[in-house]
Amino acid sequence: MPLMDGPPVELLSASVIQARVQALGAQIAAEYAGKSLVLLCVLKGSFVFAADLARAIDLPLRVEFLGVRSYGDDTRSSGVVQITQDLTRPIAGDHLLIVEDIVDTGLTLSYLREQLLARLPTSVKVCALLHKPSRSVRPVEIDYLGFTVDDVFVVGYGLDHAERYRNLPYVGVLAP
Ligand code: IMP
Ligand code: MG
Repeated sequence: MPLMDGPPVELLSASVIQARVQALGAQIAAEYAGKSLVLLCVLKGSFVFAADLARAIDLPLRVEFLGVRSYGDDTRSSGVVQITQDLTRPIAGDHLLIVEDIVDTGLTLSYLREQLLARLPTSVKVCALLHKPSRSVRPVEIDYLGFTVDDVFVVGYGLDHAERYRNLPYVGVLAP
């Protein structure tokens, strides 16, 4: 079915997302107190979530960015993970929290986890805003999860379709 140009239909409102992000931030702050926490924002999709999450964690922390591309301009996974931008500092000895917008097939996350473990962080955990369990190809452990969604293509709050919609304040589904 072709994807049309109407506004996406709201699935998670801005206020519902904010409440969940605040709760995740409080939980993370409680569990990482006294540890050297590095938030790893996986670009591009996680930039909005990571910005809100970082401000919801009341702890000293570092932020790093990793550019990853796993989709073309289509709504299906290419299965290929391309690193488009690397970290700027070592993470050896740090507690790494990977911040992902969405875990779909799990291919991106399992690849990233493997790559990052080679850099010898003390721990690696995952915080994902969204999870589509119905599409799982690789089993992945998500330590902090915002919401579970059905097998629909979602946009907004950082997530795109062909680079559009990242700036929507809510998460929506493209109207058929
Ligand atoms: P995975 O490797 O299939 O788990 O896909 C992970 C990446 O694909 C996510 O980090 C997103 O960037 C992108 N992605 C997967 N599903 C969606 C979606 O419904 N909307 C927008 N991007 C998606
Ligand atoms: Mg992503």
